[in-house]
Amino acid sequence: MCGIIGYVGPKPVVPLLIEGLKRMEYRGYDSSGVAVLNGSGIEARRAPGKIAALEAVLDAHPINGYEGIAHTRWATHGAPSERNAHPHLSADGSVAVVHNGIIENATALRGALEELGYKFISETDTEVVAHLVQELFDGPLEEAVLGALTKIEGTYGLAVISSRDPGKIVAARKGSPLLVGVGNGENFVASDPSAILSHTREVVYLDDGDVAVVEKGGYRVIDAHAEPIPRQVDRIQWDLAAIERGGYDHFMLKEIYEQPESVGNTMRGRLILDDGNAKLGGINLTHEQLLSIDNVIITACGTSWHSALIGEMMIEDLCRIPVEVEYASEFRYKNPIVTDRTLCIVISQSGETADTLAAMREAKRRGARTLGLVNVVGSTIAREDDGGVYLHAGPEIGVASTKAFTSQVVALALFTLKLARKRALSVVRGREVAQAMQDLPEQIRAVLATAPAIERIAEQFKGAANFLYLGRGYNFPTALEGALKLKEISYIHAEGYPAAEMKHGPIALIDENMPVVFVAPHDSVFDKVVSNIQEVRARGGRTIAITSRDEPSLAGLLDHEIRIPETEAMLSPILSVVPLQLLAYYIAVRRGTNVDQPRNLAKSVTVE
Ligand code: AGP
Repeated sequence: MCGIIGYVGPKPVVPLLIEGLKRMEYRGYDSSGVAVLNGSGIEARRAPGKIAALEAVLDAHPINGYEGIAHTRWATHGAPSERNAHPHLSADGSVAVVHNGIIENATALRGALEELGYKFISETDTEVVAHLVQELFDGPLEEAVLGALTKIEGTYGLAVISSRDPGKIVAARKGSPLLVGVGNGENFVASDPSAILSHTREVVYLDDGDVAVVEKGGYRVIDAHAEPIPRQVDRIQWDLAAIERGGYDHFMLKEIYEQPESVGNTMRGRLILDDGNAKLGGINLTHEQLLSIDNVIITACGTSWHSALIGEMMIEDLCRIPVEVEYASEFRYKNPIVTDRTLCIVISQSGETADTLAAMREAKRRGARTLGLVNVVGSTIAREDDGGVYLHAGPEIGVASTKAFTSQVVALALFTLKLARKRALSVVRGREVAQAMQDLPEQIRAVLATAPAIERIAEQFKGAANFLYLGRGYNFPTALEGALKLKEISYIHAEGYPAAEMKHGPIALIDENMPVVFVAPHDSVFDKVVSNIQEVRARGGRTIAITSRDEPSLAGLLDHEIRIPETEAMLSPILSVVPLQLLAYYIAVRRGTNVDQPRNLAKSVTVE
């Protein structure tokens, strides 16, 4: 996630800005920059890559000043580069802006500003803010910023400085965290308390809609009408390590809890509710090309391969096109059948997995069009695919993938909706799916509320040597994913299986030492899963079920039951996986393993 820090006070600002950016490196970023008021105007320095690259630029071209803003960028629009890095300056160089979030109407604003003669340098959505503030500047900086905010749709955490109104930083928050750091004769703006903790523990957390005018002698918080809003000063109690994890004990838990927001960000600006459709700007496929697809291959590894299995069912169910899911490591060496009417969907959180990259290149060599579903903007797979859908899930630090998985399933649902509405899906059915997607963030929050009950279950099973995870239909891949989560972070052997397959062998494993997790939201095959639960129960197996409603047929069959909300079957893995993520997490914590960096694993497997 991007990081913001700003300072106004008596000290040289550049060292403070660099220190603050370094405190936010853990959040993941791909470029950085600073903008400083040097007494006669604004000077900016930016660099792709690590903050050390920015420091090298500053060493070569120092800036002196006592007020400035800085940013670490996690690219969402436009690949990592110097010109896409923040801060962005207005055309006349009098305004500098750093921004976290997504401006949904950036394209329209860009067009309007270009008609007024503004020339854009970057591919980012953020640059429109700098020119907009310049265009509206006619008095105090805060009034120009307030004017710009009335034209912006989307989410933002913004910090703005101007040589036309020096001595102040104007900060604005809507949907992306921002705070004022209260010092003694100096003040700060930051997106993350860790950036300023070494200077002050006194902070004012801004609420959505707040605008802060920050000067070295003080600050004030105002609303959209420039009316003052009282905001209390909080004292940060956390230490730095805890702050980096947002107060959670591990990045993995933080990322599990981020899923309402990350799933929302994957959908942001892409769902067309009234048309029951999806808008995906980057897939680079014309209407004719989309209609000409007569087979789909989805290739990936690990967790991404599990989301691919869900995508397979979605596309076959709604688009009526045959889909093959291939392990990338297998696909790259087999002799696959690929034509110029094959669409190869490539799923990868990191965008750097060697097998997946090689598989994509092989598919391209054979004439397939490739579509990348990737989280890391500007990653190799994202750069080499023919088109893509960025997940916008934010950086995933924990090695065990959680929020990337749910965002992958959402991205697959968006693509399916778009393709299906060109082919076999009615607007009525499309609206039902789109509305169900819109409801997901709130429903995930409801599932997260079951965490205490899941923690109690984890306590009972932390000593298990084996686990079975069973599911059917859309939730067979969920069972696989739940088993993988447990394996990789607790080191307990766990297997995912189609529930019906029990009879063909695995049922021999069932006894009182074998916990069996059933992923069983109510769907068209629920009654079949009940039979499988009965089979396990009859042999003394211990049963845990994820269900979505009161099921009289389950009476007396379950040791533990976790309830989740109901949704479309194709979307149910997004809800049913969350208890499995939490179960794996709490068991691993009790077993004392390194949850964020499990043994033998890497976050991105960039070698064969
Ligand atoms: C998932 O928890 C694992 N860390 C691993 O299976 C991962 O999903 C796999 O290596 C693929 O990574 P990618 O999505 O970055 O390509």
